[in-house]
Amino acid sequence: MAQRADTRDLARANVAGRRKRFPPIMNDASLNDSEFARFQQMIFSTAGISMTSAKKTLVAGRLAKRLKHHGLGSYGEYFQLLSRSREEVQVAVDLLTTNETYFFREPKHFDFLRERILLPRPPGRPFRVWSAACSSGEEPYTLAMVLAEHLGEAAWEILGSDISTRVLETARTGLYPMERMRGLAPAALRAHCLKGVGSQEGCFMIDPALRRRVRFSQINLNESLPDVGEFDVIFLRNVMIYFQTETKRQVVSRLLTKLRTGGFFIVGHSESLNGLAQGLETVAPSIYRKP
Ligand SMILES: C[S@@+](CC[C@H](N)C(=O)[O-])C[C@H]1O[C@@H](n2cnc3c(N)ncnc32)[C@H](O)[C@@H]1O
Repeated sequence: MAQRADTRDLARANVAGRRKRFPPIMNDASLNDSEFARFQQMIFSTAGISMTSAKKTLVAGRLAKRLKHHGLGSYGEYFQLLSRSREEVQVAVDLLTTNETYFFREPKHFDFLRERILLPRPPGRPFRVWSAACSSGEEPYTLAMVLAEHLGEAAWEILGSDISTRVLETARTGLYPMERMRGLAPAALRAHCLKGVGSQEGCFMIDPALRRRVRFSQINLNESLPDVGEFDVIFLRNVMIYFQTETKRQVVSRLLTKLRTGGFFIVGHSESLNGLAQGLETVAPSIYRKP
């Protein structure tokens, strides 16, 4: 008798155990066309990002975890939550932006900076560079490495900005997993990076002396810009691909007000300012100068 009861208990426990290990999937919601259209409109009006219907699966996939997080049964309910919560809008923007970047990406731009901007430049006032849409910081830290090598202890500074608070958190820590070393020459690693130990094993960190030269700020390029002063060089790389022509025009014209006369404006290799900015000289493909 006792034996049979034990077996039944065990079977019940197993069933309960199985339920624990495989909880019912809360979020088997699918994103319908009208819901997708609302997210398209939200990301366009907030960030200026244009998403074609080819992005529907990507949007559903990236937002699914938020439905689960809030215990919501549909994307429509999640959209309603967005209309009530600015914090959640930021989370959604963080999830819907594409943040791919790496150290010394498109290296010809850094060669140009060394050979055509920094070498012939007479010393004088502080040299300022803005990495607008800097993602997790690899671009502004690359700029800092180049400036440190050429300008040393002279006055120079870098601003890195992005709309996404999530990537800016990483950028501020200056801590990266070892696999992100790709693109960093051994000399740059030795001069500007520290190997993580203890809890930071498997990571490397940008040297604090270099980090002090780089300031990060959340700036949405789709809105009027804060007072950030004027820059000698602005990098706006690999973000305009997400914008429509009119948004590109507005973003570029806002940024040009922050570029010094004689300053350089650099976009991604697959991008161009053709027809977007009057009065800029083309110096090389993807490199422009304000006369
Ligand atoms: C693909 S990453 C490019 C990073 C870096 N510039 C590079 O070329 O490696 C594009 C970045 O643009 C940012 N972004 C998108 N829309 C933006 C906006 N309206 N204002 C500021 N940043 C934006 C994204 O958050 C993302 O980090």
